[in-house]
Amino acid sequence: MPDEMLLEVTSVSKRFQVRGQTLHAVENVSFALRSGETLGLVGESGSGKSTLGRTVLRLLEADAGRVVFQGRDLSRLSVSELRKERRHMQIIFQDPLASLNPRMTVGSAIEDAMIIQGIASRVQRKMRVNELLERVGLPLQAADAFPFELSGGQQQRVGIARALSVRPKLVVCDEPISALDVSIQVQIIELLKDLQRELQLAYIFISHNLGVVQHLSDRVMVLYLGEVVEQGSAQDLFTNPQHPYTRVLLDSILKIPSSSAERRPLVTLPGEIPSPFHPPSGCPFHPRCTLAYERCTVEKPILQGPTTTHLTACHLAETAISQ
Ligand SMILES: Nc1ncnc2c1ncn2[C@@H]1O[C@H](COP(=O)(O)OP(=O)(O)OP(=O)(O)O)[C@@H](O)[C@H]1O
Ligand code: SF4
Ligand SMILES: [Mg+2]
Repeated sequence: MPDEMLLEVTSVSKRFQVRGQTLHAVENVSFALRSGETLGLVGESGSGKSTLGRTVLRLLEADAGRVVFQGRDLSRLSVSELRKERRHMQIIFQDPLASLNPRMTVGSAIEDAMIIQGIASRVQRKMRVNELLERVGLPLQAADAFPFELSGGQQQRVGIARALSVRPKLVVCDEPISALDVSIQVQIIELLKDLQRELQLAYIFISHNLGVVQHLSDRVMVLYLGEVVEQGSAQDLFTNPQHPYTRVLLDSILKIPSSSAERRPLVTLPGEIPSPFHPPSGCPFHPRCTLAYERCTVEKPILQGPTTTHLTACHLAETAISQ
């Protein structure tokens, strides 16, 4: 069961300067996460999911806003304090092979994370490598293998073992199953769920596969052009979506054959994604929204109820609330 508050993200924005222009990757995003809880992040390609995940971990510096982790404002930590705090915040990537050093054996890769953090003696680290290999379902001999000698699913298990070696509290899972075969995806999802239960891990889970997000998440946040357009419990969001963009997104999963769901780029929604250099005025979704009316082109909708836990940024939802 989720308990203590772990992470509080308030009004975080991240912009990139590209050839003298400002690209709005993440705009004014807020959320909170408790231990043992999973927040799913969904949205089309380029909507800012990875940028948000990395900004929360301070792998990218936010341009605005605050990230408080275990009661400490990360932007105020010195480099050495941040390094210590990093132990509790890990990331698992889409491409496990690219995230592992090809010249390091699996055992060394897992141990390396503990060495960087300066935790455990040599003997303890070796024991922990064995424990972790067992826990993620790899044979002990895998410690002596090089990453390229393993299958994709085994490599991702190594990525998970490496992330867990430092006993984190928060793990950002950035498309952790996208590169894997469907049968292996199921195993990795179940492994992540088991580990969460055992270790009270909090996950920020990013995936193009909305079915998996629904299955794993307590709450879900829908991003469009870097902004939150809807957030709520997985139950509310999937059974009673309020925002026109969320509805189109959910409709689109019904059209994706489940056997190749995770391999396809997310849904082709009608209309082009506007340029993140020049986000549209008013509601960012208005150029593609079939329900748009005049107000939508000039006034940005505020993220607010139907309930205190289910929020949506759409003028139509707003009108429904006030009636
Ligand atoms: N390092 C960078 N420099 C410049 N622009 C970037 C950088 N990283 C991301 N972006 C831009 O920021 C926006 C958000 O990108 P991001 O990778 O966070 O999206 P995403 O939702 O993770 O997409 P995907 O589903 O394809 O992984 C995009 O317009 C992207 O081109
Ligand atoms: S505010 Fe207007 S354009 Fe935006 S989602 Fe709602 S109806 Fe569509
Ligand atoms: Mg991404």
